[in-house]
Amino acid sequence: MESKSFEKIFSSVTFKDKSHRLVNLICEHIEGTISGKEDKVLSWNPPDNELQFWKDFLENGNEADFFKEILKRTTHTHNPKYVGHQVGVTAPITLLSGMLSNLLNNGMAVYEMGMSSNAIERIVADKICETVGYDSKSGGFLTSGGTLANLTALLSARKAKVEHDVWNEGHTKPLGIMVCEEAHYCVDRAAKIMGLGEKGIIKVPANKNFGMDVNKMEEYYRTSVSQGIQVFAIVGSAPSTATGAYDDLEAIQAFAQKYDLWFHVDGAHGGAAIFSEKYKHLLKGAEKSDSMVIDGHKMMLMPTITTALVFRNRIHANHTFSLDADYLLNETQEDEWYNSGRRTFECTKTMMCMHWYLLLKLYGEAVFDTYVTRQYDLAKDFAEMLLKEPDFEIATYPMSNILCFRYVNPNLSLKDLNELNAMVRQELLEEGDFYMVQTTIRGVHYLRTSLMNPFATVEHLKVLTNKIRSASEKLLQEIKQ
Ligand SMILES: Cc1ncc(COP(=O)(O)O)c(C=O)c1O
Repeated sequence: MESKSFEKIFSSVTFKDKSHRLVNLICEHIEGTISGKEDKVLSWNPPDNELQFWKDFLENGNEADFFKEILKRTTHTHNPKYVGHQVGVTAPITLLSGMLSNLLNNGMAVYEMGMSSNAIERIVADKICETVGYDSKSGGFLTSGGTLANLTALLSARKAKVEHDVWNEGHTKPLGIMVCEEAHYCVDRAAKIMGLGEKGIIKVPANKNFGMDVNKMEEYYRTSVSQGIQVFAIVGSAPSTATGAYDDLEAIQAFAQKYDLWFHVDGAHGGAAIFSEKYKHLLKGAEKSDSMVIDGHKMMLMPTITTALVFRNRIHANHTFSLDADYLLNETQEDEWYNSGRRTFECTKTMMCMHWYLLLKLYGEAVFDTYVTRQYDLAKDFAEMLLKEPDFEIATYPMSNILCFRYVNPNLSLKDLNELNAMVRQELLEEGDFYMVQTTIRGVHYLRTSLMNPFATVEHLKVLTNKIRSASEKLLQEIKQ
């Protein structure tokens, strides 16, 4: 490649032309999906066909069609009939902050490579701390995803609660973390990454509503201690992933206090409810947590990937990855809030703070209140609707915007119903009119909706319900024949 080619690659004229065309395409996409003009949420293509398409495209495709093809071949979260995974429906303005971050590539780890972004991140983290209910000792940062943030918080917990310097010297005795069996799998994964092993992830059973059975905490704690395990942390889900059930954070906090455990709140999905006047009560107890995670790219209208990890006492954030073991005795140590890489797992990260700051600047906190409240209300309306339908059953009354339900028929066994609901879901996926997911809980196969789209209404959900009913009845007829 000649060095002249770089002039072409970096030509602002070419960029302007291409970006204007893409912006037009994006605007058409946003208008088309939200208005329902673009009917399908996705155009299903089996994996091998998709692979072949992109292999061929690399050889023979027209470059001018690249973005168009991507739009055609993806799942459209802006379509109100997107009721699938817990993925944020991005506020269009955040596309621009993303673009600028990509241009500047200021990795933020050191202040010189992210002056504005380190300052902005500090403001965002302080705002979240204040809204959670932490005092002026608190602090935090943004990091690349809930999975990484939960792992980071648990590393902080180990450093704070385990006397032995595991970071420098490795484990000398078995350690453990308590969490509800319904928690997101990343907590289990974090424990395994930390070398705690299977016994080190102590799964407290869920109650009938799928929150942690707090009456069982004591029993599970004692059993682990009697096996020589030092339990150092307990995680509350706010909410858990499959059913969207919030754990009783106040009860977990009191338990953590009794046994001097680190109390971490995994609010990756529903931590955003701290902004909702109507639903912030679900997070009661979080204000006394040691740390808490909130994903911007779930219930806060931001693009993947941006997660806030906040600490009641920011000194823990500052020392998670430090080599210094006795930092708790050294609270006067300089903060260096402006060198974010000292506190984050990753070295380089995107300027993800811009999304938070921009939404706060343009729309204020009210946007998060309105959004979370609307979506949580909608799930309740959907549940009420399903409760009136004799051929539908819900797994549990929704506490958030996640609702699991299934088609039922008294003449079918559990096994047949499980198969039928899975077949209906596959049919809907391939049809592409709605996008909905599925999960199996306690042996029962449920259809699962996360009501993420701010334009989804009860009317859309009525259509979905009717579609599921017709598809189920048709499949039953076909099986009978
Ligand atoms: C409760 C909970 N915690 C953590 C995660 C993982 O977050 P991320 O996808 O940002 O890594 C999820 C993802 O759905 C979640 O629901």
